[in-house]
Amino acid sequence: MKIKTLFGEEEIQNRVAELAEEMNKFYNGREVYVIVVLKGAVVFAADLIRHFNMPVKTEFIRLSSYGANTASSGKVHAVDIALPDLNGKNVLIIEDIIDTGLTAKFLLDFIGCNFKTKSTKFCSFLDKKTARVNDIEPDYFCFEVDDKFVIGYGLDYNGNYRNLPYVGYIQNV
Ligand code: IMP
Ligand code: MG
Repeated sequence: MKIKTLFGEEEIQNRVAELAEEMNKFYNGREVYVIVVLKGAVVFAADLIRHFNMPVKTEFIRLSSYGANTASSGKVHAVDIALPDLNGKNVLIIEDIIDTGLTAKFLLDFIGCNFKTKSTKFCSFLDKKTARVNDIEPDYFCFEVDDKFVIGYGLDYNGNYRNLPYVGYIQNV
C-alpha cells in the first residue's frame, strides 16, 4: 500500500502549537475541561494540551459511527460517555476529524441537553467540510481536507496507522 503524505510531521507540530496559542489567549488562564473523543483524537489531544497554559482537566469518551470500512454508518453510538458534572465549566471537545458532522452534532447535543456549561467549544484536528450533512462548524481546526479517507496522527483505517506522525491517504482506497 502506498501512502501519499498530505501534512508532514513538522507542519502538523507547528500548526498544533499555533492553534494552542490561540486557545491559550481565549481561555486566558481559566480552567478548561477537555473532552477527548477516543480513539482517533488521542494523538492530537496529547500534543495540543501540552501547549496549554491554563488549568486542564482531561476526560475521555468513546463514540462510534464508522463500521469496518471507510463509509460512515450514519448512526452514532455512545460506547462510553461517562462525564463529570460540567455545569458552569468551560468545555473543550477534541476530535480527530469532522466528516459528515453527525458525531459532532451528537456530542454537542448531548452536552447541551445534560449540562449548562459556561462555554462549549469544538476543536477538530481535521475538517472535511465537503462531506458535511449538517451545519456543524468547528470552533478550532488545524487543517481542511478534501473528501478523501485520511490516515495517521491518530486517524485509522481498520485500526491501523494511528501511530504515523504525519497524515496521508492510501492511494488505492
Ligand atoms: P462523522 O460523524 O461523519 O463526522 O465522522 C466522524 C468520525 O469518523 C471521526 O471521528 C473519525 O473517527 C471517522 N472518520 C471520518 N473520516 C475519516 C477519515 O478520513 N479517516 C479516518 N477516520 C475518519
Ligand atoms: Mg473519531
